[in-house]
Amino acid sequence: MSPLAIDGGTPVRTRPFPRREPYDDREVEMVTKAIRSQDLFGLGGPMVTKFEQRFAALYGAKYAVASTSGTAAIHIAIGTINPEPGDEVITAPITDGGSIVPILYQNAIPVFADVDTTYNMDPQDVERKITPRTKAILVVHLFGNPCNMDAMLEIARRHKVWLLEDCCQAHLTEYKGRLLGTIGDMGCFSLQRSKHITTGDGGMTITNNDSLSERMMLFRDKGWTRKPGWGARTYAFLAPNYRMTELQGAVGVVQTEKVRSVVTKRNELGDLLSSLIRGLPGVQPAPVTSGGRHTYWIYPLRVTEGSAEVFARALCAEGIPAEAHYIGEPIFLCMEALANKVTFGSSQHPLDGCHGGRQLEYTHGICPQTEQALRELVTLSIHEGMSREDVEDIAAAIRKVAYGLTEKALG
Ligand SMILES: Cc1ncc(COP(=O)(O)O)c(C=O)c1O
Repeated sequence: MSPLAIDGGTPVRTRPFPRREPYDDREVEMVTKAIRSQDLFGLGGPMVTKFEQRFAALYGAKYAVASTSGTAAIHIAIGTINPEPGDEVITAPITDGGSIVPILYQNAIPVFADVDTTYNMDPQDVERKITPRTKAILVVHLFGNPCNMDAMLEIARRHKVWLLEDCCQAHLTEYKGRLLGTIGDMGCFSLQRSKHITTGDGGMTITNNDSLSERMMLFRDKGWTRKPGWGARTYAFLAPNYRMTELQGAVGVVQTEKVRSVVTKRNELGDLLSSLIRGLPGVQPAPVTSGGRHTYWIYPLRVTEGSAEVFARALCAEGIPAEAHYIGEPIFLCMEALANKVTFGSSQHPLDGCHGGRQLEYTHGICPQTEQALRELVTLSIHEGMSREDVEDIAAAIRKVAYGLTEKALG
């Protein structure tokens, strides 16, 4: 075996990987059209309305509500179910802060269920975390791999709690023939730069539930029950302004035409990479949940022997961009709002036992499987602009590093 590039050997890859290019002339045309209309206000505007209709059609959903970010999309879902202060939302410890912020802003308490070998929440731990104060389960389909939605749905329905889906990393992703985001009560999507559909920043919340739809729409518009023309106003409840503009709407309309080919290509490339690295010493390919199709927002490689950091550094030296530990620590340790309860003023609200809520501590040890997974994770970029040859190079580098580091460890 040739020496590893970190030890002065020749890298597997010297050419840069292709850049992701989500936009072309079609987006330029639509944005130009929006600007020429002289009105970029999105609420009821032609672009945002068309984007919502096309997004809903992609999912076979009755309602789609566009907003400014994935965080906003999740806030719309949490604001719509309207928890009492001190109610609990069970969610995932490996996620972005945008899954957690809306829970706290609605005065609810995040409760973390540990992950299983898929990096998604373990349904058994979700069940253990249910209390009389549980209002909802917010599942996160991490990296584009579906949660075990049969189990999650069964638990949610049996305990009569809402089931919300954070699909920010899992656009148009199938689980047992159904699309993520349509299995629970509401599905929430991010349209941020790195996502399968992107408008730079943006969000979408979908549902099939008639009784939720009106509050969803009002929640993104300050609770304002608009009537035509000027005059007396009514704001029905406390809510922010998360309205999307026509600029994002214009881009989104075109992106809905591309997303199917984006996820198909990512699925092919990610599965190809897994097939090429299966059985190598000290590493595990991305797990795929039974009945699910992975859409590889990023590719999670697990390093079960040796250090993930050393493995990532060795891959980088071989010309393959790689990062160790994903978010580093469970999300509750990444956020001052939870780890040290730095929330509103000096109050620690809503984590201060207000309204009979539980006072939880967010510390090391409450999600041990999560801590181990993060210690062992190396994340790699897979995207639709890559070719099979690109993925073969990634696999060749992983093979070289896996054998090279194993040999070194054996002395
Ligand atoms: C799983 C998950 N949830 C929520 C978010 C928040 O989305 P946004 O950054 O669009 O607010 C992200 C963004 O990366 C995410 O990956």
